[in-house]
Amino acid sequence: MGIICKNHVFTLQTKHTAYQMKEEGGFLFHNYYGPVIGDMDMSYLVRPLDRGFSGQPQEIVDRGFSLDTRLLEYPSYGTGDYRDYCLHAAYEDGSQVTDLRFVSYEIKEGKYALEGLPAMYQGEEKAETLEITLEDKYKNLQVVLYYGVFENLDVITRACKIVNKGEYKVRLLRAYSMALDFDHKELDFLHFYGRHAMERKMERSSLQHGFQGVESRRGYSSHQQNPFAVLCKPDATEEYGWCYGASFVYSGNFSIQAEVSQADTTRLTVGIQDTQFEFHLEPGECFTAPEVILSFSDKGLGQLSRNYHKAIRNNVCRGKYKTARRPVLINNWEATYFDFTPEKLVAIAKDAKELGIEMLVMDDGWFGKRDSDFSGLGDWFVNEKKLKGGLKNLVEEVNKTGMKFGIWFEPEMISEDSDLYRAHPDWALTIPGRPFSRARHQLVLDFSREDVRTYIFDRMCEILESANIEYVKWDANRHLTDVWSAQLPADRQGEVFHRYILGLYDFLEKLTQRFPDILIEGCSGGGGRFDAGMMYYHPQIWCSDDTDAIERLEIQYGTSFGYPVSTVGSHVSVCPNHQTGRSVSMKTRGIVAMAGTFGYELDITKLSEDDKEMVKVQVEEFKKYYDLIQNGDYYRLTDDGSKSPYVAWEFAAEDQSEALLNVVVLRAKANPMLHTVLVKGLKPDAIYRVEGTEEEYLGSALMNGGYPVPVLWDDYQSIQVHFVEFLH
Ligand code: DGJ
Repeated sequence: MGIICKNHVFTLQTKHTAYQMKEEGGFLFHNYYGPVIGDMDMSYLVRPLDRGFSGQPQEIVDRGFSLDTRLLEYPSYGTGDYRDYCLHAAYEDGSQVTDLRFVSYEIKEGKYALEGLPAMYQGEEKAETLEITLEDKYKNLQVVLYYGVFENLDVITRACKIVNKGEYKVRLLRAYSMALDFDHKELDFLHFYGRHAMERKMERSSLQHGFQGVESRRGYSSHQQNPFAVLCKPDATEEYGWCYGASFVYSGNFSIQAEVSQADTTRLTVGIQDTQFEFHLEPGECFTAPEVILSFSDKGLGQLSRNYHKAIRNNVCRGKYKTARRPVLINNWEATYFDFTPEKLVAIAKDAKELGIEMLVMDDGWFGKRDSDFSGLGDWFVNEKKLKGGLKNLVEEVNKTGMKFGIWFEPEMISEDSDLYRAHPDWALTIPGRPFSRARHQLVLDFSREDVRTYIFDRMCEILESANIEYVKWDANRHLTDVWSAQLPADRQGEVFHRYILGLYDFLEKLTQRFPDILIEGCSGGGGRFDAGMMYYHPQIWCSDDTDAIERLEIQYGTSFGYPVSTVGSHVSVCPNHQTGRSVSMKTRGIVAMAGTFGYELDITKLSEDDKEMVKVQVEEFKKYYDLIQNGDYYRLTDDGSKSPYVAWEFAAEDQSEALLNVVVLRAKANPMLHTVLVKGLKPDAIYRVEGTEEEYLGSALMNGGYPVPVLWDDYQSIQVHFVEFLH
């Protein structure tokens, strides 16, 4: 296992997978990615064939050889491979051709890190690094390819560094992180599209000739597309078949494209989308392309997802709350919106405490002139007219009830109606002399600028140090337009998008170092920046502004393909729901929110006694099941309800000693059909008892015969069943 190099055949082997490439004649070819193959050189699969209009490098006479048809590790633009490419550079003489050839390799213990960028880290795992250096010797441009091998996780990471070793400036017009070539096109593409309040809907279609892909040009990874995608064989299901995942560890513009070529090969490319991308490298400078987490499973989509769940939970997420139990919180947004007083917040805290909730989060509206979304962003000073008595006093009052206190910020944004904008209009991303675009009535601060970041950072620190604040919700409610920075010269404006994200990461790194005990929850109008990059800085992200439990079934289903439940911010809200008007039982709302970090977002002082009783039970149950839910193996047992009449999912302990089955039946029917759900991840020979009953089942019976779903009265009813191994 690990990294094997034999005659310049590089095999990266994990427990169940192998990734192979080969250096030959100076070219770095891709050989194979799939189940283990020992150290067999898979290049026997290459069959030379003369394809018209697919030419040869100058030194090669054989018309059967062409870069246009071979599988390549890191294709560059301009030397006869006409498929999608990773690297496009422009040189001082106006030429735009890069010819990358193998120079050297190095195998290192442990996992590489990327300066200024999020990436998987070794943690408790065994990991190794392979570095392969390629070079265009005519322009002295080097590319160092990084491969991280996580044996037990079945994960291989990729990233690269482009170094200008020459004497002249190089302009990078594209600098993708990786390409992955397949010698066939029999693959389906799964991606996760959406919109505000309906993120990450799974869509699957078979590859056709030409391009199929997803991308963001919004400056954020976005609600609309997600930087995680899967290629799988057409027969792959949850339980069966070959699947390849690619998760881009980056929160800005991205591109994930699959291209099927003339020869029916497929190329997957992943990198920073290159609209308005132009990065300059002076002699000696380098550019680091962000990491991609690759995983392969021949046991279907469910196993692929579980690989990502583990990798992100344990080797991307960091800090105290990676492992510490996160408090059950109540957020006041849907309870009060902007209209709250300290008395109201304390009243919510008191009632919440009685029901077992542990933290109150004060959302938007506590600072500057912020009684609506027209004003105030940037003025991170407590509005003492609204918070009479001040923040410290409020936090103390909340703490006295026995509750922790959390607070909302939107650090990257600025309102025109703010003192900050009046003092520094050039701090917003706008282009002088041009009208700009607003969204949610606000502008975006130029986070590529250090002075801007430092000012906001200092303001945030002052607030966070002024009281016993134990949680921050980091929101960001619009995408970028008018991307131009007053601090960069005209010819470097193509760097602003990426520098914005680097600035964001720098800010978050400093914040987490300064406040290691504060739990940060990311948010971008819900799940508009739900990506592995952000998860490196905060272990949970508000999954969607849609809190309707039935809509959440779809959102959380799609999200579960690439991300663990420990990252999914999910709350019980009031009915009729504020986004859809739908009413769903408290029980179902609780079960759905438990497939996430769990909390409440409603005016608890107005709940009926029955509902309060239910909240108490839910909170107790969530705490009891916390470990099973957050660290257990997650199984999707149905689709998102598009075809299935019910939606079911399950958490199973890694040692198979218990499992928590969740089923939400969508529409009640007269004269109904009877449903049986197959349980997963149990020991076939063990007896399981349904907790709180005398019902007993053999593991293999539950997994092969199934568990009978009772007939439930009314729409959107649910069951939650806890199976515990029973030792007679
Ligand atoms: C969008 C978030 O997703 C909401 O939860 C809330 O925090 C609002 N912003 C506040 O403006």
